[in-house]
Amino acid sequence: MQTRTIKDLKAAELKGKRALVRVDFNVPLAGDGSVADDTRIRAAVPTILTLVRAGARVVLCSHLGRPKGKPEAKYSLAPVAPALAASLGKPVAFVPHVVGAAAEAASLALGDGEICLLENTRFEAGEEKNDAALSAAFAKLGDLYVNDAFGAAHRAHASTEGVAKLLKPAVAGLLMQKELEYLGGALDKPKRPFIAILGGSKISGKIDVIEALLPKVDGILIGGAMACTFYKAMGFETGTSLVEPDRLAMAKDLMERAGFRLTLPHDAMVAPAIAEGKKAHAVKRDAIPSNEAMLDIGPDSAMSYGRAIAAAKTIIWNGPMGVFETPPFDQGTTAIAQAMVEATKKGATTIVGGGDSAAAVEAAGLASAMSHVSTGGGASLEFLEGKVLPGVAALDLR
Ligand code: 3PG
Repeated sequence: MQTRTIKDLKAAELKGKRALVRVDFNVPLAGDGSVADDTRIRAAVPTILTLVRAGARVVLCSHLGRPKGKPEAKYSLAPVAPALAASLGKPVAFVPHVVGAAAEAASLALGDGEICLLENTRFEAGEEKNDAALSAAFAKLGDLYVNDAFGAAHRAHASTEGVAKLLKPAVAGLLMQKELEYLGGALDKPKRPFIAILGGSKISGKIDVIEALLPKVDGILIGGAMACTFYKAMGFETGTSLVEPDRLAMAKDLMERAGFRLTLPHDAMVAPAIAEGKKAHAVKRDAIPSNEAMLDIGPDSAMSYGRAIAAAKTIIWNGPMGVFETPPFDQGTTAIAQAMVEATKKGATTIVGGGDSAAAVEAAGLASAMSHVSTGGGASLEFLEGKVLPGVAALDLR
């Protein structure tokens, strides 16, 4: 059974109807309050334009940041309205209310094809509690519900889950559908070889996804500081690298069970500190100096990972290979991104999980050269872990 989407609705279910659309406009803001990265805004455009063209009256809602259930000026969605209007090439009215009489009146005042954006859903104390009264208040703002917020679908909140049970039809938007198709397709029917590249600093944050992917993939390539916890478990010197001492037994057990399917980097870029990039040098993994830290995978590993990517038909990547924000420790991450671009050109399906790896790919200008870059960090990780996303589970089925 598949989730119903806006494409499954009949013209009469959209024309003149108020569509309450949950989007994930949790975007970074610059110092002057303007939108610093509009990736998530642009990602919602296809759904919004589809609804507009069908004559729906579009009422958008989203969270931004983590305000604690009450209004806070720095988390207002007001700066997002002009950024969205620029992406759409259409006016977007900002409504400084989340729910209630004024928000309802604003939704009822819209004409066919018109758009408004409500204030931050997390300004309401009931949002994160998935409060029934707040869910009912959201339900009054539309005649149908559309969830396009894949990035927030792992949260069972009033605007993502509660309202979907009250306001019907409750369907997925096009971004949500695309995310589910790419991530779900890779897990359910991957073209093989199917490999996963997992990076990041902590094995504790990735253990569930490693466990969930191991039975499905042909290989997992490990990068990032998390490799050092494995090195330590292998008995190597790890210097001043980030190691999770309480995860050594876990790392050992995982290596034993995974066997050849788990690959660790053979070499590492090390330096005395992140700020001392000029002193960076490559060493074999069993030769990390006692006064230096691994801050990236080494060049040999970048090359062999590149060869594995070139030979694969489905590649999922989540987590950077090193401290990619600080050159020269971005080289491993960049090499993976470039190898994935080449693989995409040769017909492989390449998927970048959200969060840091997506940010690295965006910063390198390579996002459009991948098959899919997820807009969800935590959500894509939970999906790959095999968890049910509450925001998806609450939607109608076909
Ligand atoms: C994200 O940025 O990953 C989503 O918007 C979810 O945000 P949250 O972690 O604050 O719930």
